[in-house]
Amino acid sequence: MSAPLNIVFLASEGVPFVKTGGLADVVGALPKALQDLGHQVRIILPKYSKIDAAKFGMERFQESMGVWMGGGVQEWCAVDVAYIEGDIPVYFIENWKFYERDGIYNDANNRDFNDNPERYAFFTRAALQLCIDQQWPTDIVHSHDWQTALAPGYLKTWFRNEPILSRAAGIFTIHNIQYQGNFPKTRWPYIGLGWENFTSDKYEDHDRINYLKGGIAFADMVNTVSPTYAFETKSSELGMGMNNQLNAKGDAYVGILNGVDYADWNPATDKYLPANYSPEDMAGKAECKRALQEMFGLEVNPDIPLVGVVSRFADQKGLDLLYGAIHGAVNRMKVQFIILGSGDKQLETAYMQLPAQYPGRIGTLIGYDNPKAHLIEAGSDFFAMPSRFEPCGLNQMYSLKYGTLPIVRATGGLADTVVQYNEQTGEGTGFKYTDNTPSAIVDVIGWAVSTFYDRKIHLDAMIQRAMTQDFGWLQSARQYETMYREALRRKG
Ligand code: ADP
Ligand code: GLC
Repeated sequence: MSAPLNIVFLASEGVPFVKTGGLADVVGALPKALQDLGHQVRIILPKYSKIDAAKFGMERFQESMGVWMGGGVQEWCAVDVAYIEGDIPVYFIENWKFYERDGIYNDANNRDFNDNPERYAFFTRAALQLCIDQQWPTDIVHSHDWQTALAPGYLKTWFRNEPILSRAAGIFTIHNIQYQGNFPKTRWPYIGLGWENFTSDKYEDHDRINYLKGGIAFADMVNTVSPTYAFETKSSELGMGMNNQLNAKGDAYVGILNGVDYADWNPATDKYLPANYSPEDMAGKAECKRALQEMFGLEVNPDIPLVGVVSRFADQKGLDLLYGAIHGAVNRMKVQFIILGSGDKQLETAYMQLPAQYPGRIGTLIGYDNPKAHLIEAGSDFFAMPSRFEPCGLNQMYSLKYGTLPIVRATGGLADTVVQYNEQTGEGTGFKYTDNTPSAIVDVIGWAVSTFYDRKIHLDAMIQRAMTQDFGWLQSARQYETMYREALRRKG
């Protein structure tokens, strides 16, 4: 057996402390699976004021830490610690100027904070400083998305001669290539990576700073969160301007599918449900559907198919297309919809008006509500994800486990995890379509709805098949382990 690795995760969000999307689920779950493989993992997060320190038993870990930024600026912070299941330590960088405010990345009007480049450059530098101050032996520094994408560059420049970090390989995981950390170059001096690195093969992008681009350049290995998305991002269509940079990485860019934390997402044990259920005993699912229909003011009727949606309202998710499709679907078929989400203000307003337009048939909740997300997964018959692109997507994997058949666009991780229904043989676990249009979405919903009404034997068999798929983290963690060792080999 090879030696266990000392791994440090740098991330901007993580379950159970702070979450805006799937990144937090991954940061909260992958370390446990890596620990099960024998590795030692530490997680470092910013201490946002919305994190409930008392609830998580957070304690002071380091009273004060000085962090040098560019231009001779020194910032100060404190460090707290809390533990997640399996005794994995999570360290929190506390700095009032940067993290003591409402909101994680943006304000209540969905506008990005102006000082985001400084907030995350500082966080990343501070996290690396903590490894040094604490003299943690470090093999792997694993950063996630643009917010911590400066780490591989810091390792290879500032810290290349620092004993604790000089041997560490830098890993960069792209959860979403749409957000790149793009800022005016006037912000560069504070970041402290020198103008010699503000070049088109590293951080420079159309005369602006691009954190993600430099992260790709400096990381020893780069991955994204599904094989299909790894392939798609190497094309100009879905590469969002990074396709050349990714192609240049060659074999150092791979796709590793996310897993599901079945301790959190399992209908047999889910504490948010009015009744639990399993493939052997599905009675509880009907109970969940009833509770869901009631809660959202829909006609309570087990025989009407119900389509659920839980999503950020962002361009990526295609909810504008779904909005166009919902009218067509509701007018043509006997079907119900429940939508939970928030983000884009125009879409929020549009979706909010649907329940009044179609009383008893559409339910909308604008906001972020984890218990209701669980109930929607359990109580719906189908779960829709009309994404324009989807690096992995977790909800469709949750849906499979809950016997709620996914209706998805065949892209990225959705293409990799949902098996297309075959009307002849009855095979498959869901319904996939390709065209980015409302009419394609109406058609695929019609296909699912007709399967519900007319091919019940197929439907029931698909539900059983879906619920017994295994997307646990173990297999993914093994692939991360392989990637870590490859990164060390390349670096060494
Ligand atoms: P993304 O990270 O792009 O938003 P994923 O499918 O990977 O997409 O992960 C989304 C995660 O966030 C899921 O765990 C989902 O349940 C959760 N989520 C998204 N929107 C909401 C919401 N409004 N309320 C509760 N949970 C939500
Ligand atoms: C991103 C992607 C989503 C992925 C998640 C976790 O937010 O949009 O597809 O599942 O990260 O990797």
